[in-house]
Amino acid sequence: MLKIKRVLFFDSGVGGLSVYKEVQQFNPEIETYFLFDNAFFPYGEKSDEVLISRIDEVVTKALSRFEFSALVVACNTASTIALPMLRKKHTLPIVGVVPAVKPAAMLSQKGIIGLLATPATVKRQYTKRLIDDFARDCEVIAVGDCNLATVAERKMITGKVELAEVEKCLRPFLDLPEARQPDVIVLGCTHYPHLREEIKTLLPKVRLIDSGEAIGRRVKWLLDAPDVSTFEVEQKVNRAFYTGVLKHEAERQALFKSFGFA
Ligand code: DGL
Repeated sequence: MLKIKRVLFFDSGVGGLSVYKEVQQFNPEIETYFLFDNAFFPYGEKSDEVLISRIDEVVTKALSRFEFSALVVACNTASTIALPMLRKKHTLPIVGVVPAVKPAAMLSQKGIIGLLATPATVKRQYTKRLIDDFARDCEVIAVGDCNLATVAERKMITGKVELAEVEKCLRPFLDLPEARQPDVIVLGCTHYPHLREEIKTLLPKVRLIDSGEAIGRRVKWLLDAPDVSTFEVEQKVNRAFYTGVLKHEAERQALFKSFGFA
């Protein structure tokens, strides 16, 4: 028998695989389950009330069906609204992903940072508080009225992406005179690191940062705690679950396989 730590990841779609990859890097020995709430994608266009109740429903179901050492909410839109509810209800360690505003403010030379996130994340009180607490001395240009998550989701599954679609979403940055453009942009949605290449092509001088690596380290730190739950299994098996009937089933299966899911 093998003694393992099992971690549940959760996102609205395949974007959260950007965080998953980083967590795997720092914790290669863990067994992973990933729950994709694709039936409810995109989260970024839904109201707070609707999202809290949906996240409660799907996460509670997953946690009652299997046992885990920790939960990673690999979604900024979910984390910035549902973490207090999840932590109140469940006792396992929970790691949320929120926009990397603090490191961005520290890195910016110009004192101008961009925040690219879903419409919901940009509007959140949590995000406003992050900016007040950590980027008070910076000008923060938040862009959230164009949901790039759909573009990233399509790229991940079909490999297809139109640069023009990304360009449309970056317009608020591109239209600024160079001196007023941010020198650091926070990718405040776990889908966006999958579009890093396209964003870099359009904004070559800007530094792009996300929370992935920090989450990888945080999960390692949590799992190293002596009282963390472990489980005995015959063999380590990483599994992907999703909530809805899928278009591009074959492509999705191939994507999951490429990330090591059985
Ligand atoms: N991946 C999610 C995030 O980090 C949201 C994408 C969506 O469903 O709108 O915010």
